Amino acid sequence: MTTIRVRSAADRRREIQETAAALGIDDAYISMLVETFYERVRAHALLGPIFAAEIGDDWGPHLAKMKDFWASVAMNAGRYSGKPVPAHTKLTDLQPWHFTIWLGLFEQTLRDTAPHPDAVPYFMERARRIAQSLEFAISGLPAVNTGAKS
Ligand code: HEM
Repeated sequence: MTTIRVRSAADRRREIQETAAALGIDDAYISMLVETFYERVRAHALLGPIFAAEIGDDWGPHLAKMKDFWASVAMNAGRYSGKPVPAHTKLTDLQPWHFTIWLGLFEQTLRDTAPHPDAVPYFMERARRIAQSLEFAISGLPAVNTGAKS
């Protein structure tokens, strides 16, 4: 007889934490990833001005929030409780093609910094899913369920 094993939320959480740990993903890496990525975003000719218009020069709170966000997405840390959708729908200059640039820059940053080669697809799979959901949201299409809070 086939036994169907239903994984509990706790099993799933432990699985994510174990996978992240095996790939060398921890708070120190996420902190470095976020700092390096947003340094590049700020210097980018097309993305930089959109962030500057919203964030100005006080990047501390945004970086702290993004570290919590990625720790929650990649390690199930449960530290992020913000609302990504309204944070992006209010950005009137944000266009769907900006997400392609964002994802390209994020992937390059991962390639340059990842503690393990498999950490690149691990983050990118999640980033692409969330970017798609945000892109739908700014285009006025119904959001798909990404697992991220909106
Ligand atoms: C070109 C694409 C993007 C641009 C220009 C952009 C810009 C911004 C800006 C300006 C903020 C700050 C809003 C505020 O302080 O109120 C923000 C917040 C945020 N962004 Fe993006 N973003 C982009 C793509 C993404 C993607 C792909 C992700 C996730 C994979 C993401 C995740 C977040 C999160 C989690 C926040 C914090 C929302 C909150 O809780 O306040 N963003 N973004």
